[in-house]
Amino acid sequence: MEIRVLSGDITEQQVGAIVVNLFDGVTSPGGATGAVDRALKGAISQLIEEGETKGKKGEITLIHTLGTMAPARVVVVGLGKESQFDADTVRWTTAVACRHLRRLGVGSIATIAHGAGIGGMDARTSGHAIAEGSVLGLYRFDKYMSDNVNKSEVKELIIVESDSTKVKELKAGVADGVILAEAANLCRSLASEPANFMTPTRLSEAALEVAREGGLELEVLERADMAEMGMGALLGVAQGSDEPPKLIVMRYSGDPDDEANQLALIGKGITFDSGGISIKPAANMGAMKGDMAGGASVISAMGAISNLRPKINVTAIVPATENMPGGKAQRPGDIVKTMNGKTIEIDNTDAEGRLVLADALAYARSLGIDRIVDVATLTGAMAIALGNVCTGVFGNDQELVDQVLEAGKQVGEPGWHLPTLDDYKEQYKSSVADIKNTGGRAAGSITGALIIGEFADGASWVHLDIAATSKTDRVKGYTPKGATGIPVRTLVQLVLNTANDT
Ligand code: BES
Ligand code: ZN
Ligand code: MN
Repeated sequence: MEIRVLSGDITEQQVGAIVVNLFDGVTSPGGATGAVDRALKGAISQLIEEGETKGKKGEITLIHTLGTMAPARVVVVGLGKESQFDADTVRWTTAVACRHLRRLGVGSIATIAHGAGIGGMDARTSGHAIAEGSVLGLYRFDKYMSDNVNKSEVKELIIVESDSTKVKELKAGVADGVILAEAANLCRSLASEPANFMTPTRLSEAALEVAREGGLELEVLERADMAEMGMGALLGVAQGSDEPPKLIVMRYSGDPDDEANQLALIGKGITFDSGGISIKPAANMGAMKGDMAGGASVISAMGAISNLRPKINVTAIVPATENMPGGKAQRPGDIVKTMNGKTIEIDNTDAEGRLVLADALAYARSLGIDRIVDVATLTGAMAIALGNVCTGVFGNDQELVDQVLEAGKQVGEPGWHLPTLDDYKEQYKSSVADIKNTGGRAAGSITGALIIGEFADGASWVHLDIAATSKTDRVKGYTPKGATGIPVRTLVQLVLNTANDT
């Protein structure tokens, strides 16, 4: 899909449909919607009067213009209550309108710049949100569907703005929005791939492609390198699988003169989590192909970061392996030694995420990085605690926690801070090793986070548990069913917000 911005009259566009909007409760439409209403001899006002069009968020009213204007159709999309209007409303309603029109086979769409000028929203924000809403909302993972060539597609989206002075800002917003949304879509695609395709090797190849396109350094550590560095926890998880593990390391140097201006983004890269010897039940085990969503999110974020070029150094680290119950698999009761010398008793081989992340954090620390954000589909308990609405946010540094929460809020990927009090640490004490890899059922997401935090070793650290937010089983606004791409845009926004730009 191509997104263009032009200055002109929306009623004169030769397109399959134009999109205008309406706030909840408005009885006589103003602005661009008012102009379209007049051109339609009051059709929109009449629909409002008759109660068919109410302006509820995501509501779609379709009007055929029957030759009264150049566009074949008019869509009035409801924006919901004006008091709740924000960039997320624009993303949401743009996505709903675009998907509706795609279903009807409409290939070219023109839209007004929703919100540019409303409630302090500027044109750049509006363009950004429209681009994100359309690119995110129209995403589908259909590469394995034999009949996908016949599906209809939206080929162009034109943002038409009557005030020509806003065009430049709209264009700038669109450019950024496309970068962010495409990064999230890349994450969705990587996480949607079945595990027979998305092996650790293939994940490292995906990282290589991102690195090549963005001019990033890439290093991939092999099993032998991991052994040399003493990554016993990562190797312990990998030993049950025939697929070779990879530790993927990508480097973006946006501030080469200031080595201290560093951030590590670490993502769990379990390309399939069978549970290992502590094997999972059969039902829904297939969903564990998405257990590398955290890794996919940091790889994808690096692509956007390389495009946006903020003044900061970012290192992405993805410990990638399968967790399988092979003849060489690790057993409950085993004790492994991590790169930084700490030992872990394996209580449950299905608590593998924290094991691979322990060595990844230790590796980041060995590089001298003292600000770390890790992203992981870590615990099923997240779905119980926060459902699929908020990502669980944990950490040892309130400032970094706040920065992550703020970034998430800005991009429409909310997080919620959960406690990490020392008292929880009692739960994963071991009688034979430094710690064990589980803390029991109570507060499972917190003890999982704290076990990872044991390897922060003085660094500022935040952990995002995306077990319940990395995929969705039903479409929601600009998020189609399947992998969500959370928290790619949060990570990129965090990097932009904390960079040393003037
Ligand atoms: N990958 C899973 C967590 C998960 C579960 C993600 C459901 C998405 C959906 C993780 O490796 C795991 O198995 N965690 C265990 C930990 C337990 C054994 C301490 C869990 O949550 O049950
Ligand atoms: Zn897992
Ligand atoms: Mn597991």
